[in-house]
Amino acid sequence: MSATFAVMSPATGRSVADAPDNGPAEAKAAIAKAVTAFETWRRTTAYERSAILRAWATRMLASDADLARLMAQEMGKPVTEARGEVRYAVSFVEWYAEEAKRVYGETVPSQAAHKRILVQPQPVGPVYAITPWNFPAAMITRKAAPALAAGCSVILKPAEQSPLTAIRLAELWVEAGGPADVFQVLPTSDPVALSGVFFDDPAIRKLSFTGSTEVGVKLAAQSAKTMKRVSLELGGHAPFLIFADADVDRAVSEVAASKFRNAGQTCVCANRIYVHDAVHDAFVERFSAVVSALRVGDPLDEATQVGPLVDAQGHEKVRAHVDDALARGARAVVGGKGGEGLHFQPTVLTGVSRGMRILEEETFGPVAPIIRFSEDEDAVRQANDTPFGLAAYLWTRDLSRAFRVAEALDYGIVGVNDGLPSAAQAPFGGVKMSGVGREGGKWGIEEYLDLKFISIAL
Ligand code: SIN
Repeated sequence: MSATFAVMSPATGRSVADAPDNGPAEAKAAIAKAVTAFETWRRTTAYERSAILRAWATRMLASDADLARLMAQEMGKPVTEARGEVRYAVSFVEWYAEEAKRVYGETVPSQAAHKRILVQPQPVGPVYAITPWNFPAAMITRKAAPALAAGCSVILKPAEQSPLTAIRLAELWVEAGGPADVFQVLPTSDPVALSGVFFDDPAIRKLSFTGSTEVGVKLAAQSAKTMKRVSLELGGHAPFLIFADADVDRAVSEVAASKFRNAGQTCVCANRIYVHDAVHDAFVERFSAVVSALRVGDPLDEATQVGPLVDAQGHEKVRAHVDDALARGARAVVGGKGGEGLHFQPTVLTGVSRGMRILEEETFGPVAPIIRFSEDEDAVRQANDTPFGLAAYLWTRDLSRAFRVAEALDYGIVGVNDGLPSAAQAPFGGVKMSGVGREGGKWGIEEYLDLKFISIAL
């Protein structure tokens, strides 16, 4: 295959490298290889798969500087943050290298004296995985590691904006002793044409997708044609509730860490910050000081904390949300404007209220909208008043309130005095329009296993 497409740097606007441009013919060839490879891979022992996964993790760690540089170049993540992402990506591979050995079956008592009932997990089959640009390494390992550990073969389509990290991860897999046809990466500039081949082919038994709710709904419908299993990690609109008894200083630093991680381009970052009247002014003052001090700049510079947004479309959406809020009466206490190129100034908005776009849609940018509240119940009601249900956060020193609110929040993930809860051993995923299925922990591997019931009459 000779076709390629240019991968553009959001920081410079220039091409970083060319990536192979795969189309339907390459997709068909990849499926044929994945089907054959699955028959061999599923028969390896969990110990063999575990050893390869561990070797993969070791190679990723040894390449952390290279991988971080690729991420900074292709999608603009500050290089120090990108090294953190490499460790996060590795944590999934390490976890599933161990979890491969703990895929237990069960025996169930029979109603008949001469029968025995066995329940045996088995890999679902070849998997098609679609990953986003915002975590070019970790979203790949969060899908591929459990699938490979379970005995599935995987074909992965990375986002058009970030194929270079994905290609490097596939090379490291092979260097680690992983069979090339068991984990294939297929970049493309035309995802609709490429993906169509996978949705039509009954040999692909599972779709795992991370991306927008709009696209996820379409892919679920397309997967139904061949009755594939699906895991969908979709959009979020995370509320942060800061109650009257919160530790304001800790809330300030954790909200800032959550909100400005990856320039606000994460599905779980703070999108709506509800602050109780009693601490509102103190919070705004200290938070604004922290946000004003953030260093915006070149993602390859070690000192940069906030890089550019990924593309012009993303930048335009952030600008439109801020302009809409300002036009409807919000105030920009910090920032409020675009910066050089695709940068957007880290922004704090106060006086945000219902009816503004920023409270209804995922912004995916470095903008922190603050909403004042006086009644706890009203804040929880507003927090739940959204079609999304991925992550929510609350700050309080009162244990009863912490439980009451955590249980009332209609979300898949709740951080209590914790702005960064994601961890390889915990279930990541949402309810409502934020998706189906879980990634991470013992639950993540179940998404790649079918149960076979074997009934034995003696
Ligand atoms: C995401 O934005 O989808 C991933 C964030 C995380 O894993 O913490």
